[in-house]
Amino acid sequence: MILTEESIQKIKEKAARYPHRKSAILPALTVAYRQVGHLNDEIYREIGRVINIPPVEIAEAATFYTMFPKKPVGKYLLQVCHNLSCALVGADSMITYLEDKLGIKKGETTDDGLFTLISVECLGSCATAPMIQINHDFHENLTREKLDKLLEELRAKA
Ligand code: FES
Repeated sequence: MILTEESIQKIKEKAARYPHRKSAILPALTVAYRQVGHLNDEIYREIGRVINIPPVEIAEAATFYTMFPKKPVGKYLLQVCHNLSCALVGADSMITYLEDKLGIKKGETTDDGLFTLISVECLGSCATAPMIQINHDFHENLTREKLDKLLEELRAKA
């Protein structure tokens, strides 16, 4: 078992709020992601058993959303939006800057396990592009200076 008893209870509580079991899939995935830090087939099976839905349907929902990593990631998941509004104001150069600064490519994790860098579809913050989501927090109107400061703060916290 990967999910803790506490997570299972949370999933059951959330599932009880919905008239249709399938509506509980995303809340259940969120609970699992917050506990484990990523999702995988075993977690889909466990969620499926808890809310009585075939694991393949859990997996289908999970794989649609980039917000749920499907393999272990660093302590900080850096998700840079690469869609149009962000691309027009420098998302690519922010990604390249992070790659150079961290010594990794997109999809990789730093050797110290602190940072994983990915680029993602629109996160709904187009008016404040370019932007990045770090774990659960948005950081907007990015500049190289802002990224430097963010990385410094995260390293200090780690
Ligand atoms: S295009 Fe980047 S947040 Fe929408």
